[in-house]
Amino acid sequence: MNPDLDRLHPYPFEKLRQLFRGIQPPAGLREIRLSIGEPQHDTPAFIRDALSAHLQGLANYPTTSGSDALREAIAGWLARRYGIPAPDAVNQVLPVNGSREALFAFAQCVVDRSRGDALVLSPNPFYQIYEGAALLAGAQPAFLNHLPEKGFRSDFDAISESVWKRIQLAYVCSPDNPTGKVLGLEEWQRLFALADRYGFVIASDECYSEIYCDEAAPPLGVLQAARALGRDDYRGIVMFSSLSKRSNVPGLRSGFVAGDADILKKFWLYRTYQGCAMSPPVQHASAAAWNDETHVRENRRLYREKFDAVTPLVAAHLGTARPDAGFYLWARTPITDTEFALGLQREYNVTVLPGSYLARAAGGVNPGEHFVRIALVASLDECLEAARRIEAFCRKL
Ligand SMILES: Cc1ncc(COP(=O)(O)O)c(C=O)c1O
Repeated sequence: MNPDLDRLHPYPFEKLRQLFRGIQPPAGLREIRLSIGEPQHDTPAFIRDALSAHLQGLANYPTTSGSDALREAIAGWLARRYGIPAPDAVNQVLPVNGSREALFAFAQCVVDRSRGDALVLSPNPFYQIYEGAALLAGAQPAFLNHLPEKGFRSDFDAISESVWKRIQLAYVCSPDNPTGKVLGLEEWQRLFALADRYGFVIASDECYSEIYCDEAAPPLGVLQAARALGRDDYRGIVMFSSLSKRSNVPGLRSGFVAGDADILKKFWLYRTYQGCAMSPPVQHASAAAWNDETHVRENRRLYREKFDAVTPLVAAHLGTARPDAGFYLWARTPITDTEFALGLQREYNVTVLPGSYLARAAGGVNPGEHFVRIALVASLDECLEAARRIEAFCRKL
């Protein structure tokens, strides 16, 4: 067996199951799960209809590149969303089966393991796929801490020259899971300069890009930043996007990558062997979803309503603030994060995720310690009920 499989960490939800083993939450309180980032708003009917209207596509093998219609829908969406010229739908866009598999596969494609000392940069706390992708690509993860005292920003100065020299791939998550931070133009400029200097590829995970509060201020995307900085060929940059959160279709498994045409050509080659082409009915449903914004605005309205109602209640007891974007509250706990999550589950049947499960010790700290991630994915009523129970729990501490 591949020995690198033994280097993988248990997934956060597995650790949570272990933490909660044997506890008996009060029978009278129904469970409210705010631990997993699974959108729970309704899937729009027109997406379901597009899927079922094209079931005849099941009779055909799909191509790795996907249909022209889908790639053009994606290129058109990128142009509208980011105010950039439509990317070349043939060479700069590739559909993927959700951003997760693509984020993982990308490291397998990009990392040159023959160099023996490869590092893959990951934010910390982070989405665990980055780490697993690095390890199975024969690299080591290197962590960029997102610390409260630095406003959860990426402190590129914290990485030493000797580490930068070994980085082959840098994962960036903007809007960030779990802190909700969005990278600004100056941060992108800095990262592009570092990428040029040290020769690494940037993988920008933007799967939360469409969940934001202010309709007038959508999060900046990496391709938009590249254009603004005159990097029109997106050299060394690939963005990862997804319909899962935007359109409430986590089960559809649909996203795309876009950016540097040379890198995407290699990624396409890798994917032809990996065999991860998107099913034709899913392609039709995806094109319909990318071509519509009405349901996305409504989706944002629902999240906004929840943040408006829940943030003040939680913030009165735990250090937290409304995020730039995304659907998480990243909240500081007065006791350890695992004790907090355990107590809240045991006494109030509300599930949140300990921050330390989403982070690794780096530079002498685990930046997830003393934080919990609260995913506002349930209904408004449930989120409000959970916030009241969190308040009651905090009052007792
Ligand atoms: C930061 C981040 N990236 C990527 C994903 C994967 O999403 P999907 O594979 O549904 O596109 C998730 C899912 O929760 C996530 O939190």
